Amino acid sequence: MRCSVSILATFAAVGCLALPAPVQPRADSDGHDHAHETAPWDEGATTDFRIHESCNSTEVTQLRKGLADAITLADHAKQHILRYGNSSEHYRKYFGDAPSAEAIGNYERVISGDKGNALFRCDNPDGNCDQPEWGGHWRGENATNETVICELSYSTRRPLEQLCAMGFTVAGNEANTYFGSDLLHRLYHMPVFGENHVEHFAEGYAGALELAETNSSYATHDSDVLQYFALDVYAYDIAVPVVGCAGTATEEAESMMETPTSSAITTPTAAESPASSVTEPPTPVTAGAANGVTSAPQ
Ligand SMILES: *[C@@H]1O[C@H](CO)[C@@H](O)[C@H](O)[C@H]1NC(C)=O
Ligand SMILES: *[C@@H]1O[C@H](CO)[C@@H](O)[C@H](O)[C@H]1NC(C)=O
Ligand SMILES: *[C@@H]1O[C@H](CO)[C@@H](O)[C@H](O)[C@H]1NC(C)=O
Ligand SMILES: *[C@@H]1O[C@H](CO)[C@@H](O)[C@H](O)[C@H]1NC(C)=O
Ligand SMILES: *[C@@H]1O[C@H](CO)[C@@H](O)[C@H](O)[C@H]1NC(C)=O
Repeated sequence: MRCSVSILATFAAVGCLALPAPVQPRADSDGHDHAHETAPWDEGATTDFRIHESCNSTEVTQLRKGLADAITLADHAKQHILRYGNSSEHYRKYFGDAPSAEAIGNYERVISGDKGNALFRCDNPDGNCDQPEWGGHWRGENATNETVICELSYSTRRPLEQLCAMGFTVAGNEANTYFGSDLLHRLYHMPVFGENHVEHFAEGYAGALELAETNSSYATHDSDVLQYFALDVYAYDIAVPVVGCAGTATEEAESMMETPTSSAITTPTAAESPASSVTEPPTPVTAGAANGVTSAPQ
């Protein structure tokens, strides 16, 4: 006979071989029967992001701040959509005529979803951090619930407080300039947050805007679009009210022609992961390629 933990207490006096005493339904003042409630429904919930012991003290502090920034971005994006829906110009710019529930849900899962199946680590188990300009990577088939954050991230990724400073524009610079948006992207690679549904469908900022106009049902689960929208509305509503730092797709084209050193923002464009990575397609992405490359291994 197998005793479940939840009814063990009932048997304690007689042991598991005896039949349990009949459970007396007991109605509380709220009228509910609580007789079987020996554990809370969400027992074992993990509410904080898990950080591996390989991270040193300052890395833990920076990661916790970056992850808090990711949640701040996601939460404001959600609040903006809940307040304005598709009457928001920002909403229509990034999500077109798509219904809002999917974007709201993709932000909400990062904000409130259980964090137990996601682990951030700071060692270099797959050796990818040895490659120049790698800021981190999802471990893919090696450990689908794990993300490595390489040393480069701790010296380059910016705090959300600097959004719009130093010439940054959402259109003209990399979304991974900020630790919060960079980590939002990395969270979506992990199946528990992205559900293998948030993927890369658009190429670059201009591609993201085109997706909103031509194929909006993909915009609400495009990893880059979710980052751009979150940065743009946080910039416009919070960081620099009623001004923001959207930039234009033309700036994106210009900044791509500049060398990294001549640009105001020098975040390496390849920091996400170069061509050899299985975690991040480096070339213009089609849906098929994105699915093939970023789906979690079984
Ligand atoms: C905006 O949402 C409403 C429903 O709330 C819908 O009827 C309308 O078609 C949407 N407009 C656009 C431009 O997406
Ligand atoms: C998984 O591990 C192998 C062997 O260590 C390595 O070659 C490969 O790049 C790793 N995959 C990822 C996504 O890091
Ligand atoms: C933690 O590790 C980083 C490398 O990512 C290093 O630069 C930093 O000095 C370390 N922190 C401490 C307090 O030693
Ligand atoms: C990884 O997370 C998934 C849920 O996304 C879970 O089903 C699975 O057990 C986890 N795997 C490991 C090795 O922790
Ligand atoms: C929308 O985007 C998806 C993914 O890139 C693609 O498979 C599909 O063909 C696109 N549909 C249209 C109408 O462009």
